[in-house]
Amino acid sequence: MARGRGGVRLSLDKGWRFALGHAADPSRDFGYASSRELAKAGWAEGAAAADFDDSAWRPVDVPHDWAIELPLDPSGSRDCVKHGYHALGPEHPEHSIGWYRRAFLIPAEDLGRRISVEFDGVFRDSITWLNGHYLGRHMSGYIGHAYDLSDCLNYGGNNVLVCRVDATRAEGWFYEGAGIYRHVWMENTAPLHVARWGACVRAEWDGARAARLEIRTRVENDQDAASAFSLESVIEYPDGRPAAAAQAVGEALPPWECREMVQAVELAAVQPWSLETPRLYRLRTLIRDRGGAVTDQRETLFGIRSVRWDPDRGLLLNGRPVRIRGACCHQDHAAVGTALPDRLQEHRVRLLKEMGCNAYRTAHHPPAPELLDACDRLGMLVMDETRLPGSAPEVLGQMERLVLRDRNHPSVVLWSIGNEELIQDTPVGERIARCMKRAVKRLDPTRAVTAAMNNGGVDAGFARVVDVHGWNYFKIGDLDAWREAHPRRPVVGSEEASAFGTRGAYADVPARGHVAAYDVGRFHGYCAGAEEWVRAYARRPFLAGGFIWTGFDYRGESGPFHWPAVSANFGAMDLCGFPKDSYYYYKAWWTAAPVLHLFPHWNWQGSEGRAIRVVCYSNCRSIELSLNGRSLGVRAMPPLGHLEWEIPYAPGRLEARGLGGDGQVVATVCRETSGPPARLCLECPRRMLDADGADVACVAVSALDSQGRPVPDAGCGVQFDLAGPGRILGTGNGDPASHEPDKAPCRRLFNGLCLVILQAEAIPGALVLTARGEGLMPADMTFTTRAPPPGAIV
Ligand code: GAL
Repeated sequence: MARGRGGVRLSLDKGWRFALGHAADPSRDFGYASSRELAKAGWAEGAAAADFDDSAWRPVDVPHDWAIELPLDPSGSRDCVKHGYHALGPEHPEHSIGWYRRAFLIPAEDLGRRISVEFDGVFRDSITWLNGHYLGRHMSGYIGHAYDLSDCLNYGGNNVLVCRVDATRAEGWFYEGAGIYRHVWMENTAPLHVARWGACVRAEWDGARAARLEIRTRVENDQDAASAFSLESVIEYPDGRPAAAAQAVGEALPPWECREMVQAVELAAVQPWSLETPRLYRLRTLIRDRGGAVTDQRETLFGIRSVRWDPDRGLLLNGRPVRIRGACCHQDHAAVGTALPDRLQEHRVRLLKEMGCNAYRTAHHPPAPELLDACDRLGMLVMDETRLPGSAPEVLGQMERLVLRDRNHPSVVLWSIGNEELIQDTPVGERIARCMKRAVKRLDPTRAVTAAMNNGGVDAGFARVVDVHGWNYFKIGDLDAWREAHPRRPVVGSEEASAFGTRGAYADVPARGHVAAYDVGRFHGYCAGAEEWVRAYARRPFLAGGFIWTGFDYRGESGPFHWPAVSANFGAMDLCGFPKDSYYYYKAWWTAAPVLHLFPHWNWQGSEGRAIRVVCYSNCRSIELSLNGRSLGVRAMPPLGHLEWEIPYAPGRLEARGLGGDGQVVATVCRETSGPPARLCLECPRRMLDADGADVACVAVSALDSQGRPVPDAGCGVQFDLAGPGRILGTGNGDPASHEPDKAPCRRLFNGLCLVILQAEAIPGALVLTARGEGLMPADMTFTTRAPPPGAIV
């Protein structure tokens, strides 16, 4: 990235008060409708007033998603179906308004500084007041916004920030949460400072040893006197060594003006950013006044890489073709809804990388800045998407802010102006796309623009404008005819698969919302199983690769079965991030190390003798299957394929051995018939947490039988306790029809697994998690915490 961490940037995440208002009954909306701040400045009343008594309101920290806490509504109005049946939307006015209040002190000596509040994401339509002054209204649920507070602050005293959030209306067609679900920051700078998102680094690099950097810095002089200033840009290598520097002396900047300074720097011995070695350089920006005192400093992370889209070879990263093995994802996870802690963003990117994924599409909205930070750090390409195409200021402004905010991220390789728009192949669509592309290129001429289209290659509208054609679903239209007609246009599969499947389920059970996880793209004409689309793409090397719909399950868009199912089944992983079987198909063909995966489980008690369809995903040369020690033969694994057998069920041990080219065993896996659950088991690779009030651990919970074998169909209830300075953030189990509350400290296992997420407080000390289930031996796990590393955001 790229977000400036300079000046004084404080987290405002902790210490809010929260209450639900009412969208239809003013008497239950804390005086909002009759407040007079639009008549006279500073005259806000009710909960918007500074002196309102909020002591009865609930204390909350943000990120906070109140939708996840709401009851489910089985009557399923159209709007609440979108929200995973959570009772939100026009039919639930009592749940659709949220009020937040946050008090803070500002020292008297800060008078004259510029102080602003930045919201990274509020869902949605928020109105903000400071000390009874109306600051503004912000509609978008996805792109962040900021307000300058300086004029209305009470210096040397208490201040109150109030935010009324109206989540009545949805923006998308999937779960979107409700509330202040991303970070809030307070930025405190001298009047002479770098503008918001005002530092931009562009690297021109063609693979040579040296690169040329163009650094654009917007300097603002927010005071009544003109100010001379100097600008110093210092570049550091990824290991922190100084790499280059540039100085510029600016002519006196008139009062209340902003100037863009352009500096060019030659950089020797380039260490490029790549998927394998995601190296990040650091730009330090220092602004000095006439006397040489530093008035502002920022840090901006960036990477040096070259990206080119070629109509025949797809994406060339640093001159080498990289086939996109991507995943579309919404911001939604078990236990937290849309309020993802930063560590969970990183965890999800890691899970995708382990699957072999190298690209993330932020479907269908601007992502959290921390997601892009994780993609930069871990080496994951990003297709960065805005919510809505449009050329009117509000809608276009969302796209512009997305580009301004994200343009330093080396991970971002494509800007997407929209998805499956009704206007996608109309003249109106063409005009809007031209306007958006123009706006994007003005702010970032270095990246390509795309749009995800599902019109099967109509040469009209968006298609005539974008640099890279985003093709949703190869089964829609005739990709080969398109290619023949337009051989010079690069194409990426912006959306593929949409294959349904429930983790650990091997039969459709519509009444429980479960879909068999065998890899079949069924139910819609455009759906394709993993194997089907991966093979179709392999036959078309001109395609730059594709993005699966989706990496993770998400709430809303339940299907093909609806209530009691409340979440979508499309993920390669479930809502908790537990891999489904299809995950291993991708891992087998998208990674190099031996992968061997066998399903289903082997607990078919009562079905003795019945033929069970057994499937193996693997990248081993050949597979030997055996049941209870008896070999069922060796078969060659077809490239990009799978093997399957019909095996009459007999309890015991079904084993697969993966053989390499010379016949040696390179991997083994077995599915064993288990007894009933006897004890619980906790697993978590991260046992040391930062004591920063934000870090989280994702703990997988499973059941073992009396002989220590996993019980893959266990469904027992588990109760959690946490001792020490931390809290249980929530639980989940990946069952698309689970109606258990995410915030309660208990959960049933679903097909053998559930998840509990813990969060450390900002107090060092050991945490002990205990899991108990009726008639089961409990399990516990200890976590240590450490003071956050220097530079960590507290
Ligand atoms: C696509 C759409 C996605 C999702 C998916 C479900 O057409 O872009 O947002 O709805 O269908 O199959």
